[in-house]
Amino acid sequence: MITHIANAADRLQPVRGELLSRVTGKTDKKMIARIFVSLSIFSLLASATAHAADAKAGRKKAQMCAACHGIDGISKMPMAPNIAGSPAMYLEKQIKAFRSEERKDETMNVVAKPLSDADIADLAAWYSGLTVDVTLPN
Ligand code: HEC
Repeated sequence: MITHIANAADRLQPVRGELLSRVTGKTDKKMIARIFVSLSIFSLLASATAHAADAKAGRKKAQMCAACHGIDGISKMPMAPNIAGSPAMYLEKQIKAFRSEERKDETMNVVAKPLSDADIADLAAWYSGLTVDVTLPN
């Protein structure tokens, strides 16, 4: 969604340029100025919030999760869940809930506290991108 906004803002750049060049023409100057200002605010906002989730960066950041969840997202200790292959949206929601302490867990509340939204998106991209093989019991 954020990427969409960023892309839309990029596509609007030439439109903005053309509007600017027409400001001196016989078109309604006030109106053009108003459009120009709102487009500028729009692209400013988009660039301030845009972050494309980066799984490779997520892999690096996941070093700090590996002792418990593994770099492969498979639990390395009895109380930690497997997180490999969980949907990115779900992972993001949980990590943000730990960060805000809306979801309480002594360990995860401490781990999640310093993470930025971008860190969380990257971590979710890494762990959600892992493929899990499941074997059903006979
Ligand atoms: C010291 C061990 C430890 C470390 C390090 C750790 N976790 Fe956890 N994590 C846990 C435990 C324990 C839980 C289960 C919490 C609960 O019971 O609610 C958990 C739960 C989670 C969940 C919820 C999974 C679900 O399906 O509900 C996510 C997502 C998660 N951790 C992500 C991470 C990420 C990302 C990192 C690294 C930034 C990380 N954890 C680092 C121990 C750890």
